[in-house]
Amino acid sequence: ALTKAGFSDMDIIVGRAGWPTDGAVNATSAIAQSFMTGLVNHLARKSGTPLRPKFAPTETYLYSLLDEDQHSIATGSYDRHYGIFMFDGQAKYHVNLGQGPMALKNALDVDYLPSKWSWLAWKCVICLQQLLPAA
Ligand SMILES: *[C@@H]1O[C@H](CO)[C@@H](O)[C@H](O)[C@H]1NC(C)=O
Repeated sequence: ALTKAGFSDMDIIVGRAGWPTDGAVNATSAIAQSFMTGLVNHLARKSGTPLRPKFAPTETYLYSLLDEDQHSIATGSYDRHYGIFMFDGQAKYHVNLGQGPMALKNALDVDYLPSKWSWLAWKCVICLQQLLPAA
């Protein structure tokens, strides 16, 4: 389709790819794990389509690191459950994001702050600490 539209050699960036784990019939951790594992493996092969084997995405953004319990549910409650981790940094399933066969690390000793605080900031910090390789 891109070739027909005159864009045969443009970079492809996938802005959002993920699978929810709750809020819809097929929104389960098992299916999300299967989807994300297939996606990561596909991206690792850097393969495109049968017609254009090298026409693979140059960048892909996984949606999402964390569940978002304040996300709009205008399209469905599943929209709050795309996280690989729950809102508090606990992994919902296994996927190899570069750590190999090791399990994803859950956030430890999570301090649950009073709801008057913006927990958006702390949850991002906790998960980045857990995901980034130790120095
Ligand atoms: C759920 O998954 C099954 C099996 O793949 C499929 O047949 C069905 O259409 C799906 N349901 C929805 C609502 O997507």
